Amino acid sequence: MPSFSASAPAKIILFGEHAVVYGHPAIAVPVMQVQAKAIVRAEPRGAAGKVRIQAPDIGLEADLSDLPAANPLATAIRGVAEALGVSRLPALTLRVTSTIPVAAGMGSGAAVSVAIIRALSAFLGHPLPAERVSALAYEVEKLHHGTPSGIDNTVITYAMPVYFVRGKAIETLHVGAPLTIVIGDSGVASPTAIAVGDVRRAWQSDSRHYEQLFDRIGEIVQAARQAIEKGQPDILGGLMNDNHALLRAMGVSSPELDRLVEAARAAGALGAKLSGAGRGGNMIALTTPENAPGIALALQAAEAIQTIITEIKTRIT
Ligand code: PMV
Repeated sequence: MPSFSASAPAKIILFGEHAVVYGHPAIAVPVMQVQAKAIVRAEPRGAAGKVRIQAPDIGLEADLSDLPAANPLATAIRGVAEALGVSRLPALTLRVTSTIPVAAGMGSGAAVSVAIIRALSAFLGHPLPAERVSALAYEVEKLHHGTPSGIDNTVITYAMPVYFVRGKAIETLHVGAPLTIVIGDSGVASPTAIAVGDVRRAWQSDSRHYEQLFDRIGEIVQAARQAIEKGQPDILGGLMNDNHALLRAMGVSSPELDRLVEAARAAGALGAKLSGAGRGGNMIALTTPENAPGIALALQAAEAIQTIITEIKTRIT
Protein backbone atom coordinates (compact mmCIF):
# COMPACT_ATOMS: atom_id res chain seq x y z
CA MET A 1 0.00 0.00 0.00
CA PRO A 2 1.54 3.35 -0.98
CA SER A 3 1.71 6.26 1.44
CA PHE A 4 -0.88 9.03 1.46
CA SER A 5 -0.30 12.61 2.45
CA ALA A 6 -2.46 15.69 2.93
CA SER A 7 -1.81 19.28 3.95
CA ALA A 8 -3.97 21.96 5.50
CA PRO A 9 -3.31 25.70 5.79
CA ALA A 10 -3.36 27.98 8.80
CA LYS A 11 -6.06 30.60 9.20
CA ILE A 12 -6.58 34.07 10.58
CA ILE A 13 -9.81 35.62 11.75
CA LEU A 14 -10.24 39.01 10.07
CA PHE A 15 -13.31 40.04 12.08
CA GLY A 16 -15.64 38.67 14.74
CA GLU A 17 -13.66 36.35 17.03
CA HIS A 18 -15.28 35.57 20.39
CA ALA A 19 -18.63 37.09 19.37
CA VAL A 20 -18.84 34.20 16.89
CA VAL A 21 -19.07 31.76 19.82
CA TYR A 22 -22.34 33.53 20.75
CA GLY A 23 -23.99 33.28 17.35
CA HIS A 24 -22.66 36.42 15.65
CA PRO A 25 -20.96 36.23 12.25
CA ALA A 26 -17.19 36.22 11.71
CA ILE A 27 -14.89 36.39 8.71
CA ALA A 28 -11.84 34.14 8.41
CA VAL A 29 -9.33 33.46 5.66
CA PRO A 30 -6.74 30.74 5.06
CA VAL A 31 -3.02 31.48 5.27
CA MET A 32 -1.25 29.20 2.83
CA GLN A 33 2.34 30.16 3.77
CA VAL A 34 2.25 27.90 6.81
CA GLN A 35 0.75 24.42 6.75
CA ALA A 36 0.23 21.20 8.66
CA LYS A 37 1.05 17.95 6.87
CA ALA A 38 0.13 14.33 7.60
CA ILE A 39 1.64 11.27 5.93
CA VAL A 40 0.19 7.81 6.43
CA ARG A 41 2.41 4.89 5.50
CA ALA A 42 1.51 1.20 5.58
CA GLU A 43 3.64 -1.10 7.73
CA PRO A 44 3.18 -4.42 5.93
CA ARG A 45 5.11 -6.33 8.59
CA GLY A 46 3.33 -4.71 11.54
CA ALA A 47 0.54 -6.36 13.51
CA ALA A 48 -2.98 -5.25 12.56
CA GLY A 49 -4.13 -2.44 14.82
CA LYS A 50 -0.62 -1.15 15.54
CA VAL A 51 -0.69 2.55 14.74
CA ARG A 52 2.54 4.42 15.29
CA ILE A 53 2.33 8.21 15.59
CA GLN A 54 5.27 10.51 14.99
CA ALA A 55 4.87 14.24 15.66
CA PRO A 56 8.44 15.53 15.95
CA ASP A 57 7.39 19.19 16.30
CA ILE A 58 5.78 18.42 19.66
CA GLY A 59 8.26 15.68 20.62
CA LEU A 60 5.67 12.92 20.35
CA GLU A 61 6.45 9.36 19.21
CA ALA A 62 3.96 6.81 20.53
CA ASP A 63 1.55 4.01 19.69
CA LEU A 64 -2.08 5.04 19.37
CA SER A 65 -3.00 2.51 22.07
CA ASP A 66 -0.73 4.32 24.56
CA LEU A 67 -2.24 7.77 24.03
CA PRO A 68 -4.97 9.08 26.33
CA ALA A 69 -8.45 8.90 24.80
CA ALA A 70 -8.66 12.72 24.79
CA ASN A 71 -5.44 13.20 22.84
CA PRO A 72 -6.30 15.34 19.78
CA LEU A 73 -4.33 13.21 17.31
CA ALA A 74 -5.88 10.02 18.71
CA THR A 75 -9.35 11.57 18.52
CA ALA A 76 -8.84 12.50 14.86
CA ILE A 77 -7.62 8.97 14.00
CA ARG A 78 -10.44 7.22 15.87
CA GLY A 79 -12.96 9.64 14.35
CA VAL A 80 -11.91 8.58 10.84
CA ALA A 81 -11.95 4.85 11.71
CA GLU A 82 -15.46 5.19 13.18
CA ALA A 83 -16.75 7.29 10.29
CA LEU A 84 -15.58 4.64 7.84
CA GLY A 85 -16.72 1.68 9.97
CA VAL A 86 -13.17 0.36 10.34
CA SER A 87 -12.97 -1.51 13.65
CA ARG A 88 -9.28 -2.39 13.38
CA LEU A 89 -6.86 -0.19 11.45
CA PRO A 90 -4.14 -1.85 9.38
CA ALA A 91 -0.61 -1.44 10.77
CA LEU A 92 0.53 2.04 9.84
CA THR A 93 2.73 4.97 10.73
CA LEU A 94 1.24 8.46 10.82
CA ARG A 95 3.72 11.30 10.67
CA VAL A 96 2.51 14.81 11.43
CA THR A 97 4.53 17.97 10.87
CA SER A 98 3.51 21.59 10.93
CA THR A 99 5.00 25.02 10.35
CA ILE A 100 2.00 26.76 11.94
CA PRO A 101 2.76 28.51 15.26
CA VAL A 102 1.06 26.63 18.12
CA ALA A 103 -1.41 28.32 20.50
CA ALA A 104 -1.13 31.49 18.45
CA GLY A 105 -4.62 31.90 16.99
CA MET A 106 -3.71 30.47 13.61
CA GLY A 107 -5.66 27.24 13.89
CA SER A 108 -2.72 24.87 14.18
CA GLY A 109 -4.84 22.27 15.99
CA ALA A 110 -7.58 22.33 13.37
CA ALA A 111 -5.04 22.20 10.53
CA VAL A 112 -3.36 19.13 12.03
CA SER A 113 -6.78 17.45 12.41
CA VAL A 114 -7.83 18.24 8.84
CA ALA A 115 -4.52 16.94 7.43
CA ILE A 116 -4.79 13.70 9.45
CA ILE A 117 -8.44 13.11 8.54
CA ARG A 118 -7.75 13.65 4.83
CA ALA A 119 -4.59 11.52 4.71
CA LEU A 120 -6.00 8.66 6.76
CA SER A 121 -9.35 8.46 4.98
CA ALA A 122 -7.54 8.45 1.61
CA PHE A 123 -5.18 5.75 2.90
CA LEU A 124 -8.21 3.65 3.89
CA GLY A 125 -9.60 4.02 0.36
CA HIS A 126 -12.46 6.41 1.20
CA PRO A 127 -11.34 10.04 1.02
CA LEU A 128 -13.96 11.93 3.00
CA PRO A 129 -15.75 14.92 1.47
CA ALA A 130 -15.05 18.40 2.88
CA GLU A 131 -18.24 18.50 4.93
CA ARG A 132 -17.33 15.30 6.81
CA VAL A 133 -13.68 16.35 7.19
CA SER A 134 -14.80 19.61 8.78
CA ALA A 135 -17.32 17.86 11.06
CA LEU A 136 -14.71 15.38 12.33
CA ALA A 137 -12.17 18.17 12.89
CA TYR A 138 -14.84 20.01 14.87
CA GLU A 139 -15.08 17.06 17.26
CA VAL A 140 -11.34 17.42 17.91
CA GLU A 141 -11.71 21.18 18.36
CA LYS A 142 -14.06 20.48 21.26
CA LEU A 143 -11.10 19.03 23.18
CA HIS A 144 -9.27 22.37 22.93
CA HIS A 145 -12.20 24.30 24.34
CA GLY A 146 -15.67 23.02 25.07
CA THR A 147 -17.61 25.52 22.98
CA PRO A 148 -15.79 26.08 19.69
CA SER A 149 -17.75 28.04 17.12
CA GLY A 150 -16.47 25.78 14.33
CA ILE A 151 -14.88 28.62 12.37
CA ASP A 152 -11.35 27.16 12.46
CA ASN A 153 -12.20 23.72 11.09
CA THR A 154 -14.47 25.32 8.46
CA VAL A 155 -12.05 27.86 6.98
CA ILE A 156 -9.15 25.40 7.13
CA THR A 157 -11.07 22.57 5.47
CA TYR A 158 -12.39 24.71 2.62
CA ALA A 159 -9.22 26.85 2.35
CA MET A 160 -11.25 29.83 1.12
CA PRO A 161 -12.33 33.12 2.69
CA VAL A 162 -15.51 32.41 4.67
CA TYR A 163 -18.34 34.33 6.26
CA PHE A 164 -19.23 32.08 9.14
CA VAL A 165 -22.20 31.86 11.47
CA ARG A 166 -22.21 29.06 14.02
CA GLY A 167 -24.50 26.20 13.00
CA LYS A 168 -25.28 27.71 9.56
CA ALA A 169 -24.21 26.51 6.12
CA ILE A 170 -20.79 27.84 5.11
CA GLU A 171 -20.73 30.94 2.87
CA THR A 172 -17.56 31.57 0.91
CA LEU A 173 -16.69 35.20 0.40
CA HIS A 174 -15.98 37.05 -2.83
CA VAL A 175 -12.99 39.35 -2.33
CA GLY A 176 -13.55 42.43 -4.55
CA ALA A 177 -9.93 43.57 -4.50
CA PRO A 178 -6.97 41.60 -3.08
CA LEU A 179 -6.11 42.51 0.52
CA THR A 180 -2.58 42.55 1.88
CA ILE A 181 -2.27 41.50 5.50
CA VAL A 182 0.83 41.44 7.70
CA ILE A 183 0.60 38.93 10.55
CA GLY A 184 2.72 39.55 13.65
CA ASP A 185 3.28 36.88 16.29
CA SER A 186 3.55 38.28 19.83
CA GLY A 187 5.42 35.13 20.87
CA VAL A 188 3.11 34.74 23.86
CA ALA A 189 1.46 31.30 23.81
CA SER A 190 -2.24 31.64 24.53
CA PRO A 191 -4.40 28.53 24.71
CA THR A 192 -7.80 29.31 23.19
CA ALA A 193 -9.62 27.58 26.06
CA ILE A 194 -8.45 30.09 28.65
CA ALA A 195 -9.47 33.25 26.77
CA VAL A 196 -12.79 31.69 25.69
CA GLY A 197 -13.48 30.53 29.26
CA ASP A 198 -12.70 33.97 30.70
CA VAL A 199 -15.04 35.65 28.21
CA ARG A 200 -17.77 33.17 29.11
CA ARG A 201 -17.42 33.90 32.82
CA ALA A 202 -17.38 37.66 32.19
CA TRP A 203 -20.49 37.32 29.98
CA GLN A 204 -22.23 35.31 32.69
CA SER A 205 -21.54 37.94 35.34
CA ASP A 206 -22.27 41.01 33.14
CA SER A 207 -24.32 39.69 30.26
CA ARG A 208 -25.86 43.05 29.26
CA HIS A 209 -22.49 44.68 28.72
CA TYR A 210 -21.04 41.68 26.91
CA GLU A 211 -24.11 41.26 24.70
CA GLN A 212 -23.66 44.90 23.67
CA LEU A 213 -20.01 44.28 22.80
CA PHE A 214 -20.95 41.17 20.81
CA ASP A 215 -23.73 43.06 18.99
CA ARG A 216 -21.35 45.83 17.99
CA ILE A 217 -18.83 43.31 16.74
CA GLY A 218 -21.62 41.66 14.74
CA GLU A 219 -22.37 45.02 13.07
CA ILE A 220 -18.68 45.50 12.25
CA VAL A 221 -18.58 42.07 10.61
CA GLN A 222 -21.57 42.91 8.42
CA ALA A 223 -19.97 46.19 7.34
CA ALA A 224 -16.63 44.41 6.76
CA ARG A 225 -18.29 41.82 4.57
CA GLN A 226 -19.63 44.55 2.29
CA ALA A 227 -16.29 46.35 2.18
CA ILE A 228 -14.45 43.11 1.33
CA GLU A 229 -16.91 42.23 -1.42
CA LYS A 230 -16.79 45.74 -2.87
CA GLY A 231 -13.00 45.97 -2.55
CA GLN A 232 -12.79 48.95 -0.13
CA PRO A 233 -9.66 48.44 2.00
CA ASP A 234 -9.82 51.96 3.50
CA ILE A 235 -13.14 51.22 5.17
CA LEU A 236 -11.83 47.85 6.34
CA GLY A 237 -8.88 49.40 8.15
CA GLY A 238 -11.15 51.53 10.33
CA LEU A 239 -13.39 48.55 11.02
CA MET A 240 -10.35 46.55 12.13
CA ASN A 241 -9.40 49.29 14.58
CA ASP A 242 -12.96 49.36 15.92
CA ASN A 243 -13.00 45.58 16.28
CA HIS A 244 -9.71 45.68 18.21
CA ALA A 245 -11.10 48.32 20.59
CA LEU A 246 -14.08 46.07 21.35
CA LEU A 247 -11.83 43.04 21.92
CA ARG A 248 -9.79 45.15 24.35
CA ALA A 249 -12.98 46.13 26.15
CA MET A 250 -13.76 42.43 26.36
CA GLY A 251 -10.44 41.85 28.12
CA VAL A 252 -8.79 39.61 25.55
CA SER A 253 -5.97 41.87 24.36
CA SER A 254 -2.60 42.11 26.10
CA PRO A 255 0.19 44.70 26.39
CA GLU A 256 2.21 42.78 23.77
CA LEU A 257 -0.68 42.69 21.28
CA ASP A 258 -1.52 46.35 21.87
CA ARG A 259 2.14 47.28 21.31
CA LEU A 260 2.20 45.43 17.97
CA VAL A 261 -1.12 46.92 16.89
CA GLU A 262 0.17 50.43 17.70
CA ALA A 263 3.46 49.77 15.90
CA ALA A 264 1.63 48.66 12.76
CA ARG A 265 -0.61 51.74 12.78
CA ALA A 266 2.37 54.05 13.36
CA ALA A 267 4.11 52.41 10.37
CA GLY A 268 1.17 53.32 8.14
CA ALA A 269 -1.16 50.31 8.36
CA LEU A 270 -4.74 51.02 7.26
CA GLY A 271 -5.89 49.26 10.43
CA ALA A 272 -4.80 46.57 12.89
CA LYS A 273 -6.28 44.21 15.45
CA LEU A 274 -5.55 41.06 17.40
CA SER A 275 -6.64 37.89 15.63
CA GLY A 276 -7.97 34.72 17.26
CA ALA A 277 -8.50 34.12 20.93
CA GLY A 278 -6.17 36.95 22.01
CA ARG A 279 -4.14 37.42 25.21
CA GLY A 280 -1.18 36.42 23.07
CA GLY A 281 -0.77 34.81 19.70
CA ASN A 282 -1.07 36.91 16.58
CA MET A 283 -2.24 40.29 15.45
CA ILE A 284 -2.96 41.36 11.89
CA ALA A 285 -2.47 44.62 10.03
CA LEU A 286 -4.11 45.66 6.76
CA THR A 287 -1.84 47.51 4.38
CA THR A 288 -1.11 48.39 0.80
CA PRO A 289 1.25 45.88 -0.85
CA GLU A 290 4.03 48.55 -1.02
CA ASN A 291 3.91 49.22 2.73
CA ALA A 292 3.82 45.56 3.79
CA PRO A 293 7.61 45.02 4.17
CA GLY A 294 7.93 48.25 6.20
CA ILE A 295 5.12 47.19 8.52
CA ALA A 296 6.71 43.76 8.95
CA LEU A 297 9.95 45.49 9.97
CA ALA A 298 8.11 47.78 12.38
CA LEU A 299 6.46 44.73 13.97
CA GLN A 300 9.82 43.00 14.33
CA ALA A 301 11.22 46.14 15.96
CA ALA A 302 8.25 45.98 18.37
CA GLU A 303 9.35 42.41 19.23
CA ALA A 304 7.15 40.28 17.01
CA ILE A 305 8.90 36.91 16.88
CA GLN A 306 7.60 36.13 13.39
CA THR A 307 5.88 38.08 10.64
CA ILE A 308 4.05 36.74 7.60
CA ILE A 309 2.85 38.82 4.66
CA THR A 310 -0.17 37.27 3.01
CA GLU A 311 -2.49 38.29 0.19
CA ILE A 312 -6.20 37.53 0.42
CA LYS A 313 -8.09 36.76 -2.75
CA THR A 314 -11.30 34.89 -3.49
CA ARG A 315 -9.32 31.82 -4.39
CA ILE A 316 -6.10 31.47 -2.48
CA THR A 317 -3.58 29.10 -4.00
O1 PMV B 1 -8.26 29.27 17.61
P1 PMV B 1 -8.19 30.75 17.82
O2 PMV B 1 -7.21 31.18 18.83
O3 PMV B 1 -8.12 31.48 16.52
O4 PMV B 1 -9.60 31.20 18.44
C1 PMV B 1 -10.76 30.88 17.81
C2 PMV B 1 -11.67 32.04 17.79
C3 PMV B 1 -12.63 32.17 18.95
O5 PMV B 1 -13.71 32.94 18.43
C4 PMV B 1 -11.97 32.93 20.09
C5 PMV B 1 -13.15 30.86 19.48
C6 PMV B 1 -14.06 30.10 18.52
O6 PMV B 1 -14.32 28.93 18.78
O7 PMV B 1 -14.56 30.68 17.55
